[in-house]
Amino acid sequence: MTYKTTQYTLLLASGMMLSASTWASEMDRLSLMLNGTCMVCHGSQGSSVGPATPTIAGMDSEDFVDAMIEYKSGERPSTIMGRLAKGYTEDQFQMMADYFAKQPFVRYQQTVDALKVKSGAKLHDKYCEKCHEDSGYNLSDDGAAILAGQWMPYLQFTLTDFHAGVRDMPRKMKKRMKKMVKKEGEKSLDELVHFYGSLTEQK
Ligand code: HEC
Ligand code: HEC
Repeated sequence: MTYKTTQYTLLLASGMMLSASTWASEMDRLSLMLNGTCMVCHGSQGSSVGPATPTIAGMDSEDFVDAMIEYKSGERPSTIMGRLAKGYTEDQFQMMADYFAKQPFVRYQQTVDALKVKSGAKLHDKYCEKCHEDSGYNLSDDGAAILAGQWMPYLQFTLTDFHAGVRDMPRKMKKRMKKMVKKEGEKSLDELVHFYGSLTEQK
């Protein structure tokens, strides 16, 4: 497939440039080349402009590598990423992860329902803020995935996958989400999506 050929050529080209520059800047350049493929969907520097493709800029590099490994093995459900991830090695996942972790998460205006946003904010504080800190902006090193300003359709199908047990979630998150849905109903998932979609601050 063309992916493999391109990749090989890129690696070869980057290998030849090694002597001409430092290792560190070479890593950056290699990441950029590999990431050329990713930007078609995930946007330049990892901030997607399409509603079903998540923004991956600013993603914790460990979570990033885990996600790619799980896509590759099929453990994490996907429409596209499973097939794509098969074309790369774990070392390459790490390089991509290091590159995207350093990029800013760019947020866009999305259409939200004000009432749902209001309920979603309360639900977030009660059930999610403990790990998805700063209203889901997650400005800390040990926080979980960035949710603030993520694309709503992506969040919608991700939460549906979690709820249906199609995608595994961390044990404690599962406990909280179960408790929330039991107490507040399935509409709580939709309200959270509207809350995260309403957050557009650039931080
Ligand atoms: C054809 C469009 C497309 C391309 C190209 C693409 N992605 Fe994706 N990516 C998606 C979609 C859609 C999802 C959501 C999962 C799915 O359905 O496949 C996703 C999900 C992800 C996630 C998980 C994000 C999260 O919030 O957990 C990561 C990481 C990722 N992609 C990395 C990459 C990398 C690295 C590349 C380049 C090698 C890439 N993607 C290329 C469409 C794409
Ligand atoms: C005990 C900590 C914890 C709690 C509580 C928690 N989460 Fe998470 N969440 C995580 C971690 C860690 C990840 C990243 C690992 C993964 O994707 O499996 C994550 C991932 C996610 C993702 C996937 C993001 C992506 O880009 O694909 C969504 C969506 C999410 N959480 C929503 C929620 C919501 C909504 C709540 C509240 C009902 C919640 N979480 C509560 C720890 C938590």
